[in-house]
Amino acid sequence: MFTKELLIWLHVVLASFWVGGMIFLSLVVAPFIRSRPYRNEVFQEVGRRFSLYGTFLTLGLLFLTGIGIAYLVHGGLERRTIKEKLALFVIILVVSLLHDLWAGRKAVGSEFHRRWARNLGIVNLLLSLLMVYMGVRIRLGL
Ligand code: HEM
Repeated sequence: MFTKELLIWLHVVLASFWVGGMIFLSLVVAPFIRSRPYRNEVFQEVGRRFSLYGTFLTLGLLFLTGIGIAYLVHGGLERRTIKEKLALFVIILVVSLLHDLWAGRKAVGSEFHRRWARNLGIVNLLLSLLMVYMGVRIRLGL
């Protein structure tokens, strides 16, 4: 029983960091930094750190804890909502890698890549909010 509790607790904490981190960046960091002369350095450094702790570490652990919960609590991956959540997770991973390894890295001095980085970031936030909703649906047995 303790393993299930621990897995769901860890999954929710990781989800809070991932979704909360993107909301914090969009509403608090970006509006403040955008008009400052040192914006490029800060965006690159904040982006690099969130990529490391967010995309690579947190998404990886969300996948592992999610699969663990699916098997330990819901008997596997058969349920449609769990399959849909996994499919959406793959899309979030692709969008994150495009954001971090392509648009974000080329954003300095390129308005085209800066706009792509911004739009990919917004798309990922909306998709991740949908992931939370799907988690609630799984919890409710839907
Ligand atoms: C961006 C990635 C993800 C986010 C933000 C996320 C978020 C959440 C949240 C907030 C919950 C808690 C809902 C609640 O207990 O009411 C949840 C539950 C759940 N998630 Fe995820 N999740 C993610 C990825 C995954 C993946 C890849 C899987 C793999 C199948 C998964 C499987 C589950 C399952 C099975 C539950 C139900 C837990 C329960 O029974 O309470 N999640 N998710």
